[in-house]
Amino acid sequence: MSVCIIYHSETGNTRSVAERLAAATGGDLVEVQDLAGYSKAGMYLKGIPRALRGHKADIEPAVIDVSGYDTVVVGTPVWAGNPTPAINAAVAALQGVEGKTAIVFCTSHGAPQKTLETLKTMLAGRGADVQGAVSLTGRDVQDPRAVESLADLVRRSEKEMVVQ
Ligand SMILES: Cc1cc2nc3c(=O)[nH]c(=O)nc-3n(C[C@H](O)[C@H](O)[C@H](O)COP(=O)(O)O)c2cc1C
Repeated sequence: MSVCIIYHSETGNTRSVAERLAAATGGDLVEVQDLAGYSKAGMYLKGIPRALRGHKADIEPAVIDVSGYDTVVVGTPVWAGNPTPAINAAVAALQGVEGKTAIVFCTSHGAPQKTLETLKTMLAGRGADVQGAVSLTGRDVQDPRAVESLADLVRRSEKEMVVQ
């Protein structure tokens, strides 16, 4: 099974989930950096309006080639009920994602609103087959069972592909 876990994280929650998911599934990690380099205040003052209008940030890496993987996982923090500008850009930067199984997750304070729907729609627009979506709160991030259920979803999607 080959899994690529792509994530953005400014304050560590999404990174923590992504790293434990990688340990549980043997997946490879791709951390997306927003080159805006936000301060804490800047995330709110500049990041929120950008997230609200679906802005695509300048990111590093600028191209994310997933053609060698079976499953692509994309994890985003929730900013004002949306994926972050870095994740909007990361989805646009994917190469070879057409026809891949995708799973999405977000971390938030508990009000993800339309974040996962938006992310699913963006990935489907790139030709991915989105099979699962998980919303995690700050408390879930500390709970090993929450990451394990996300890992189960990834493993199940892999098994289904083998059966097909
Ligand atoms: C600019 C900004 C906007 C946020 N908007 C929301 C929101 O709409 N709903 C929510 O539940 N949490 C919101 N949060 C909380 C984050 O989604 C949450 O802390 C997330 O786990 C951060 O991920 P990270 O630590 O990987 O950067 C916001 C945080 C920031 C910095």
